[in-house]
Amino acid sequence: MRKLSIVNGPNTNFFGIRNKEQYGSVTYESMMEEAVAYGEQRGFAVEVFQSNGEGPLIDYLQKLYHEAQAAGSAIPVVINPGAFTHYSIALMDALESVHDLVPAVEVHLSNVHAREEFRHVSWTARECIGQIAGFGKEGYKLAIDAFKALEAEGRI
Ligand code: DQA
Repeated sequence: MRKLSIVNGPNTNFFGIRNKEQYGSVTYESMMEEAVAYGEQRGFAVEVFQSNGEGPLIDYLQKLYHEAQAAGSAIPVVINPGAFTHYSIALMDALESVHDLVPAVEVHLSNVHAREEFRHVSWTARECIGQIAGFGKEGYKLAIDAFKALEAEGRI
């Protein structure tokens, strides 16, 4: 089974606790459980990584790159970079660095384009295949479906 990673940035582990109007009341843990089960049904071995720090997220993406290189096949990433989306050039550079072997789709639970202006900018999405925003926890599944479609087309 091809590996797929779900990577979550700062404060995503507080989904279900923080700002329920934006993010709903489903906990981070059950959201991830559902996404992992969905990915496995679609034929991916799903790994989840969450960190509140920029460095560990970058280290993890670089680790995936080496893993994909050793395995000789790309490892797709579904990433919700949290607030790093809007200002982390370091995370953008990391996504650019690994892109050939670790292609990413960006996910946001909320529709960032309908919120404060600073959320309309995504540095990280520039280095992703695309962005899915506004569908709540379903966004993770939509991103997995996107990779399934790309896989069928031989694009990953
Ligand atoms: C978020 C949107 C970001 O603007 C915010 O900083 C988050 C969550 C989302 O999933 O909607 O932490 O990434």
